[in-house]
Amino acid sequence: MKVDGKHFRSIWRDGWTALAIDQRRLPHEFIVARLTTCAEAAEAIRFMLVRGAPLIGATAAYGMALAMRDDKSDAAIDRACETLLATRPTAINLKWALEEMRQVLRPLAPSARSDAAYARADDIAEEDVVINQGIARSGLGLIEAIAAKKPDQTVNVLTHCNAGWLATVDWGTATAPIYLAHDRGIKVHVWVDETRPRNQGASLTAWELGHHGVPHTVIADNTGGHLMQHGKVDLAIVGTDRVTANGDVCNKIGTYLKALAAHDNEVPFYVALPSPTIDFNVADGITQIPIEQRGAEEVTHMTGRTADGRIETVRIVPEGSPAANYAFDVTPARLVTGLITERGVLKANRAALAAAFPERISAAAE
Ligand code: MRU
Repeated sequence: MKVDGKHFRSIWRDGWTALAIDQRRLPHEFIVARLTTCAEAAEAIRFMLVRGAPLIGATAAYGMALAMRDDKSDAAIDRACETLLATRPTAINLKWALEEMRQVLRPLAPSARSDAAYARADDIAEEDVVINQGIARSGLGLIEAIAAKKPDQTVNVLTHCNAGWLATVDWGTATAPIYLAHDRGIKVHVWVDETRPRNQGASLTAWELGHHGVPHTVIADNTGGHLMQHGKVDLAIVGTDRVTANGDVCNKIGTYLKALAAHDNEVPFYVALPSPTIDFNVADGITQIPIEQRGAEEVTHMTGRTADGRIETVRIVPEGSPAANYAFDVTPARLVTGLITERGVLKANRAALAAAFPERISAAAE
């Protein structure tokens, strides 16, 4: 995707180092960070310099490649896996990418591991882009069908958090069909949930859409239900950090409430996902997916740009009031109209997921 006319990905390679857009600084500053060690890659994930399930996976893969420069032993592979896996608990793409790396590296002689690690990390990044282009094609049909029913009118899509190109390597998941529809000349407008507490919608999704020229409006998180009641949302498309074998969807906190409102108002609620986000080892999302709890300061404080251009963080909660910060919630499969994948739009259930991705089931069983 483009930033001021120049094509960027969220992460890319510069020789043996990895470069990534520092997402903590957006939308006010565009800064590229250089990752030179496995520890730096782990910190980048933990402190959300990079975030979004697919990008977390790609960054971890480069983290493993960086680890292999320093030490190519079996113990180093295990150590790097452990360090990277401990960074964030919810997005399954992290575990998936590390397992992919481990499977490639373990059988090799240590001397071959560094080159192989970079090659597999590059492939993981590249595969993500191809998968997201597939998601774009799968989801385009949904938007086209709505556009056909309301000629010359705008298709209004509601999205939550940032499941855009910044959350992946390129294109995004939830945004991929939107970008494709826009590029094909369909009139599309996006309602962007601000997504408290970290505001990934307001700061990242709005920034991305703006740079690509997609019409959008940022709304407070609680606005979606009202808009749906008044026919102002044609469909919702969100991303996900983990989809269970039964089709339950874990995503940024607040997604479940949007799904409830969509259900009540008969607004189609779609979830876009790349296949590495499916966890065939887990059936029940509500009881089995670990939900990350983050620092209270994300709730108690807000960061923004002052009128004179300074970036400042201010407290918005009374001193002494405790705050809780659950980062994700689970939307049960029954509230999901469909799963937009690189292999088509699927029903959110075990049979559909298993039929579309049989190789992932057998990998999970190993
Ligand atoms: O905490 P974050 O910013 O990593 O959470 C990101 C999300 O919840 C995204 O919607 C999800 O990862 C899907 S990314 C394509």
